[in-house]
Amino acid sequence: MSTINSIKAIQVLDSRGLPTVSCKVILSCGIEASAIVPSGASTGTKEALELRDGGSAFMGKGVTKAVNNINNFINPLLKNLNPQDQKLIDHKLIDLDGTDDKSNIGANAILAVSLAISHVAAKKKNIPLHKHFRDVYSDITRLSVESSLPMPMLNILNGGEHADNNIDIQEFMIIPSNASNFSEAMRWSSEIYWNLKNILKNKSLSTAVGDEGGFAPNLKSNEEALTLILDAIKQSGLVPGKDIFLALDCASSEFFDGRKYNLKGEDRSLSPSEFVSYLEELVEKYPIISIEDGMDENDFDGWKELTDKIGHKCQLVGDDLFVTNKNIFKTGIEQGLANSILIKFNQIGTITETIETIHLANSNNYKSIISHRSGETEDTTISDLAIGLGAGQIKTGAPCRSDRVAKYNRILWIEEENNNFSFPE
Ligand code: PGA
Ligand code: ZN
Repeated sequence: MSTINSIKAIQVLDSRGLPTVSCKVILSCGIEASAIVPSGASTGTKEALELRDGGSAFMGKGVTKAVNNINNFINPLLKNLNPQDQKLIDHKLIDLDGTDDKSNIGANAILAVSLAISHVAAKKKNIPLHKHFRDVYSDITRLSVESSLPMPMLNILNGGEHADNNIDIQEFMIIPSNASNFSEAMRWSSEIYWNLKNILKNKSLSTAVGDEGGFAPNLKSNEEALTLILDAIKQSGLVPGKDIFLALDCASSEFFDGRKYNLKGEDRSLSPSEFVSYLEELVEKYPIISIEDGMDENDFDGWKELTDKIGHKCQLVGDDLFVTNKNIFKTGIEQGLANSILIKFNQIGTITETIETIHLANSNNYKSIISHRSGETEDTTISDLAIGLGAGQIKTGAPCRSDRVAKYNRILWIEEENNNFSFPE
């Protein structure tokens, strides 16, 4: 049996030019694989802790403590274990840390190892990672969910914390729902992206991009952003509301002050009920089928009102609300908040806990969307996770910038190699 010989981590840079953790696992047979963890900007307050060094280097954002925790503590802990025992290994990491939010060892350290273990185990078995995820977690995932290609949600216009413009809503996404396969979905998305670029250029608006590769112009309102995107869809010869739908990530915790939702770009302050009505009107007026973090992460009354009002006709996604945490998610389900969950593995810290949260969603008829972070790297683990778990949807930025398209490109190859994989019904 091939066992873990050594685990080594170093500090590398993410797509924002800030440090993150890269980890390599080497087996006794010589096979090795590595992984890199992503990092958020508009983070939920209940996320697992990303351990940062503080001090002056890298503006305090260094991750050498997390790196040293891997090299000094995790490396000896996991030596000689079987890399196929992902669940056992993840539980050893959780126990080593011993805290609820992984603040001792750092969720960035723990996740880097958890991911690298899954990669090396798949390589050892000589199977693709998506198949490995299926094999390892077949007991806790709903067996009726087949491997499938995820419908992409592409963030083509960036605001909020991800851009230096005046738009309050963080993400304006397109969903190429009517595409017959993943390659067509990407072609349509690329054409819409380029048409949007030309529209912005012709209006002398900025075509510089935000953290997730979408354009980040200054606009008069959130509605202007939606109108420009509809124009781009039509210019691409596609029909909004038939071929292409829209999705928003409000990331509204970033502009809620405990009482009001402050849309600074539009100079408006709305009460929770008024903000619910604002979103309700947007859904009436535009082909919006998904809204993420419509309400603040602690505004449970607001969430309930939003869910009761539009939950029957719109996917309502909890990101900062649930932070991929099984226990927090369970309470939200009991309270009837949202109807879908965003899945980000660095919010919780191990592959095993991530998949348990997806399972909880499946068992309660909540949809799962596998997601990147705004700070990303060339790592494409989320593509395999989305496919292996049959999650159905992936959100990983614009069809632009290698940190974003790396994930889409990985899915294009998996589509090519598995002609029985298609979009779920
Ligand atoms: P983040 O943004 O990675 O900065 O949290 C992504 C999101 O909010 O979905
Ligand atoms: Zn979000």
